Amino acid sequence: MVERSNGNAEIKVRFFVGAPNTLKSGGKFMSKKIAILTSGGDCPGLNAAIRGVAKASYGLMPNIDIYGVENGFLGLINGQLTIQKESDFSGILTLGGTIFGTHRISYKDVLASVGTTHDLLEKMIKNYKFYSLDCLVCLGGNGTYKIAKLLVEHGLNVICLPKTIDNDIFGTEISFGFQTAVSIASEVLDRVHTTADSHDRVMIVEVMGHKAGWLALNAGISGGADTILIPEIPFSNKSVLQSIENRTLKGKKFTIIVVAEGAKTKEEAVLSKKDFKKLRQDLANMPISYQLKNYIEKHSAYETRVTIPGHQQRGGTPNSFDRILATKLGVEAAKLILEEHYNIAVSIVNNKIEYKKIVDVAGKTKNVLPNLKLVKTAKLLGISFGE
Ligand code: F6P
Repeated sequence: MVERSNGNAEIKVRFFVGAPNTLKSGGKFMSKKIAILTSGGDCPGLNAAIRGVAKASYGLMPNIDIYGVENGFLGLINGQLTIQKESDFSGILTLGGTIFGTHRISYKDVLASVGTTHDLLEKMIKNYKFYSLDCLVCLGGNGTYKIAKLLVEHGLNVICLPKTIDNDIFGTEISFGFQTAVSIASEVLDRVHTTADSHDRVMIVEVMGHKAGWLALNAGISGGADTILIPEIPFSNKSVLQSIENRTLKGKKFTIIVVAEGAKTKEEAVLSKKDFKKLRQDLANMPISYQLKNYIEKHSAYETRVTIPGHQQRGGTPNSFDRILATKLGVEAAKLILEEHYNIAVSIVNNKIEYKKIVDVAGKTKNVLPNLKLVKTAKLLGISFGE
């Protein structure tokens, strides 16, 4: 046995001289080293997916070493990888967050560092090689996929699993974390409903989703919202107010509005990125929900309240749907590692597993199409999109 250091005094890795690591003997008898990292915003189901990868890997490949990378790509940059025991993956199925920690690291920052004295990409590659990894399993969203693509382009073996409450990862119908967030946001709507009814108020619930409206659309339908405002369908304040008035004319005394954090008015939607940023800065980055509340209260007598559940939508235990989805995706990653089939983004298409190339899906976003069936369904129910 020998010990090697990557130059960082604290980091030493033990190697068994002559370990069959490099032997292409194939199948489960070959020894393999993999690392798992979770990157970007956390979400329910990360631990279930980690457990899926680990349990199936140990089952399929008895000679596997699994490392946990601390805090996403940051840990790979800093060489913070810890060898795991099989028991480390027990009891985590229902646990929210991620046992390895996570961190947001910008793809742009990684790119900008290339060729400088702080070349982050070089550090990641160096540590991957230092630990003699056969594969890096990345659980993440769009930002993670872009960095994963860079690693693939530089010769590393990577597998990506889709996680995000935003459900905006290109190439997959669904990502784990999303359905739990929909349930949480729906419950917020349910609770807001009764108090809106008691007080005859307009209640605005602002949900997460970044620049996509999946969470608002699904939670809105599930929670019986009267108006759903999403980034993909710019709205007019006037139309939103009109839809509240229409309800009043029908004898309804309250209105529930779900607005996605990234929703924009029609005027905002035509602005350049720079002008939009300036406009929001001039409003002290006031959330869109409060802007809408101010408009309603300025132009009508409707008493309006705002609820922003925020990170509650990302916290806590995954629901059963996400536990199953995350487990399935994790097990799929283990199968790919066994077959040495790398550089794959495990995806769900038509409710079935599909393997997509990371390089084909990274850098693209999946948005709600305004003519999506679910949008049409919502409209047929009488839900307004503030158009
Ligand atoms: O991507 C998940 C997400 O929760 C988005 O919906 C939201 O815009 C963002 O992360 C919030 O990020 P942070 O946790 O870094 O504030």
